[in-house]
Amino acid sequence: MIKQARLSVTGARSAIAARSLIGALSLLWLLALPAQANELGDLVRNGDAAAVTSALDKGAAIDEIDGVTALYIACETGNAALADLLIKRGADVNLPVSWQRTPLYAANKAGFADIVKLLLGHGADPNQLAKGQTPLHVAAETGCLACVTYLVEAGSDVNALTSNGSPPIHLAKLAGHDDVVAYLHGHGAAGPTVQPISPRLASADAQSGKDVFAKTCAACHLSAPGLKVPKRANLWGIVGRQKGSQGDVQYSSSLKQAGGVWSFEDLNSFIANPALTLPGTDMSFPGLADDNQRADLIAYLRTLSETPLPLPGK
Ligand code: HEC
Repeated sequence: MIKQARLSVTGARSAIAARSLIGALSLLWLLALPAQANELGDLVRNGDAAAVTSALDKGAAIDEIDGVTALYIACETGNAALADLLIKRGADVNLPVSWQRTPLYAANKAGFADIVKLLLGHGADPNQLAKGQTPLHVAAETGCLACVTYLVEAGSDVNALTSNGSPPIHLAKLAGHDDVVAYLHGHGAAGPTVQPISPRLASADAQSGKDVFAKTCAACHLSAPGLKVPKRANLWGIVGRQKGSQGDVQYSSSLKQAGGVWSFEDLNSFIANPALTLPGTDMSFPGLADDNQRADLIAYLRTLSETPLPLPGK
């Protein structure tokens, strides 16, 4: 006991010592920053084109300085004239800053469509990934229709997925940008490409499907008759049930408006990728890509009923 107490006092002391050391080091680091580096960034931030030109003439480094670039700052602050000047002076339009964001990200995030156009016109990559998102994801989420239009015209992939399986249209829908949703619909936004599940169901294994359900769905869903828990849709009787029809569940507007009943094939597509199938859905689940697992799972969902529907084709 006593030994433990002593140890923790020593632990606390060394934690304090470590903290002050970190403090001192960061102060030293701040003092050691090259003055010129901050200067160019500050000049861009202040929008002082003449001073930026003069600093560059004197040899100020144009690209990465302490993890950020002058071009990034110009894009973030919406200064198209300065962004243009920096590009003409050779700034790299695709160079990410130390937190992995690109000039295109900064412009899309803030909705500066003229800068998005400028960057694309000078070779910015409309599909460059940063933190698992493409520029189109960012513009769609921001709701900048002009940015979205420029990106799509420059070749952005309308159906690119973030690392958790979301296409741009899903982000636009979640954020309520209906104009962007409509535009993306009209420009190739598509559902997942999955093989029909019906032919696989006869040979699928509902028992393994039950395990898949326990591992991947049960955290958010119930599966026994009559159970009600707020926010957890009960999937008892789901096959053939009207979509979004449980009175006690707060569905997204996308699911409420989906219409129709859950057929085997609609479930197949939704479970393969909810956000691609039903943009704007609240089901934050990247999707179950494995065809066999999906067949087993859907075969299990079918059994969640007093009177399971006949298998397709039977
Ligand atoms: C992180 C939580 C979460 C996980 C994991 C999850 N779901 Fe969902 N699910 C939801 C939410 C939330 C909704 C409501 C979606 C909406 O309103 O757009 C939903 C809706 C559904 C619906 C439509 C229900 C209805 O009444 O119309 C089905 C079917 C469904 N999920 C199946 C599954 C299956 C099968 C799995 C496992 C592969 C799964 N879900 C995994 C949260 C989840």
